[in-house]
Amino acid sequence: MYRVFGIIGDPVSHSLSPVMHNAALRELGIRAVYGAFQVKKEHLKEAIEGIKALNISGVSVTIPHKEAVIPLLDYVDEVAQKIGAVNTIVNREGKLWGYNTDWLGVLKALYEKGIEIREKRVVIIGAGGASRAVVYALREGGAKEIILYNRTFEKAKALAEEFSCKALPWEELKKAEGDIIIQATSVGLKSMESPVPSEIFKNFKVAMDIVYLPLKTKFLQDAEKFCKIIDGLRMLLYQGVEQFKLFTGLNPPVNLMEKMLYEEVKKMEKELGFGD
Ligand code: ATR
Repeated sequence: MYRVFGIIGDPVSHSLSPVMHNAALRELGIRAVYGAFQVKKEHLKEAIEGIKALNISGVSVTIPHKEAVIPLLDYVDEVAQKIGAVNTIVNREGKLWGYNTDWLGVLKALYEKGIEIREKRVVIIGAGGASRAVVYALREGGAKEIILYNRTFEKAKALAEEFSCKALPWEELKKAEGDIIIQATSVGLKSMESPVPSEIFKNFKVAMDIVYLPLKTKFLQDAEKFCKIIDGLRMLLYQGVEQFKLFTGLNPPVNLMEKMLYEEVKKMEKELGFGD
């Protein structure tokens, strides 16, 4: 019997998860397919019920459902509850279990480059859904200070209070400084815009973006002169690796998943007119 996995989100047509997971499933000889399901907000409840009804083995969850999906599941792991977002659902004998692997993706993306988080001062741009996993990861990694900047200050303040970190006004961004800066807004996705002034990178050593299309965002281009840079596919790859382990109980072929992601993003950049 073929097992079925997939991703639910909206939009989902450009998702890189099918390419990454299908390659890994095939390589390990697992009889399963991974599809993309576009699910509108108003259909989320039915879609979740559908996982059970169709006996789908597991799904990745992406924008805009990561938070809304929580009350619809049978069990939600403690970390996902703290982050307030689920990006992975596993169907175990008809019960749906929710997890979050995004924060592990953030940590791994930094650690693989030998970047130490403990005792470091980290600046995060953005206070939306994606920022929550980033903040949680840095807390777990032992950062000394986490400073949040967000266009809407109230959101930064609320997030900072929840995770015991600091929020500073958007207008003061040009004075930002620290060891690591992480871009966690949607700015720069399919555009050559950066949410931060290019002068600030001299105040940092490492710059990471969670946006991966284009791969080298304006944020990373500006950062490159002064900082070690980490592109958005690193986090995507490692959240996918952890997700694959939850889906199958097996270690995936990481190098193959990586290769597939970069090839696919290059194709998408070409289609959209980015790149070399
Ligand atoms: P996600 O789940 O991707 O984080 P989100 O919850 O809608 O999506 O959050 C988007 C983030 O990008 C927010 O931090 C948002 O800032 P606001 O809270 O002020 O809306 C940020 N963002 C989006 N467009 C932006 C822009 N043009 N300039 C600065 N920040 C922007």
